Amino acid sequence: MSLAAPSGPALADSRELVRRIGAEIDAAGGWIGFDRYMQRALYEPGIGYYTGPNRVFGAEGDFVTAPEMSSLFGRCIAAQCAQWLGEDDEIVEFGAGSGALAAQVLSALRDAGTLPRSYAIVELSATLRERQRGTIAAAGGELLARVRWVDELPERIEGVVLANEVLDAMPVRVFRRAGDKVFERGVTRLGDDALGWAERAADERLASKVLDRLREAGDECAGLPSDEAGAVPENYVSELGEQAEAWVATVGSRLVRGAMLLVDYGFPRREFYHPQRDLGTLRCHFRHRAHDDPFLWPGLQDITAHVDFTGIAQAGADAGLDVLGFASQARFLLDCGLLDACAAIPRDDLRAWTLETQAVQRLLSEAEMGELFKAIALGRGVSDDAIGFRTRDRRASL
Ligand SMILES: C[S@@+](CC[C@H](N)C(=O)[O-])C[C@H]1O[C@@H](n2cnc3c(N)ncnc32)[C@H](O)[C@@H]1O
Repeated sequence: MSLAAPSGPALADSRELVRRIGAEIDAAGGWIGFDRYMQRALYEPGIGYYTGPNRVFGAEGDFVTAPEMSSLFGRCIAAQCAQWLGEDDEIVEFGAGSGALAAQVLSALRDAGTLPRSYAIVELSATLRERQRGTIAAAGGELLARVRWVDELPERIEGVVLANEVLDAMPVRVFRRAGDKVFERGVTRLGDDALGWAERAADERLASKVLDRLREAGDECAGLPSDEAGAVPENYVSELGEQAEAWVATVGSRLVRGAMLLVDYGFPRREFYHPQRDLGTLRCHFRHRAHDDPFLWPGLQDITAHVDFTGIAQAGADAGLDVLGFASQARFLLDCGLLDACAAIPRDDLRAWTLETQAVQRLLSEAEMGELFKAIALGRGVSDDAIGFRTRDRRASL
């Protein structure tokens, strides 16, 4: 597959990032874990994918997220938030992208007369903060007045935590299981200006975690000596989303009362580590093309992995949270009133109406985002009747 090359200045930034990561690899003795590489490729100050000057979201970027497609996505999220928000509560959104979701949620809550006390955004990228400010200001000065940007995780949260497509952007460890052996896949130098895969035996902790999870997922050969490992692929490559789980546990421990609503692509563990998914879920995006080479133009392309929602639910439980619901994005949005919201779109501008209904179709379609994307809610001290999970709660599959 050929991809259009980035511009000269962008390539210079990418070369600088490769130089820096290469220096870290040398200092570490020739190898770093993939999670460390992904951290720097996405978040290196000033030249990482999310922290650099590139426009990553939207039509002229590399991918389009649900709130970029249709404002009705945020309207549905707002309906769920309204059920959970108490009088003096706040919403805390992580990784707010262009600010579209914040603007949609705040607009819908304003229209319903239920604006939260405050809307905090935890954003790692200074460039994105400015873009978010502009998007929210365009939706109304009174909305912008409620928004504050925070660098650190709040100590105490009472209200609702939102994160749309954030878990998939958190660094993952990559492993290969061969019979009873586990190898960690990491990164080494290939000459002066290129990086590539390199493996080493996994440490004991990682190896036993991987084998436990694979067995839990039904891999009957995980842990068997290679010559006895029959049906499942001998070489099974996948990821471990430890950072996403640690993040859920930390944020969950600070949630004094309220709920976390996390929307992302992924599966329950049995599906995530399905024998046929033996090449894992790591994907890269560059200008709306997906491919599987994470070392192409580091810092200029997105790198993501799907979410093991069983791991997320367990991390929440470790922090004392209840799972309030788990559903496909389509079911969640329908239960939050997407069809009513869709029916209310004025038809006087036929072109706008057509575009909006096409976007809704993409959010719901099983072939697009409706089934692959899931919503999970974790909570403390809130009732177990979340509207978004009324009809097709799949908690039992986690
Ligand atoms: C795929 S984008 C999604 C953006 C936005 N939520 C949307 O739906 O359009 C992932 C975002 O997650 C952010 N992110 C990743 N890890 C984060 C963390 N630990 N705290 C806050 N934001 C984080 C990234 O900076 C990036 O803005």
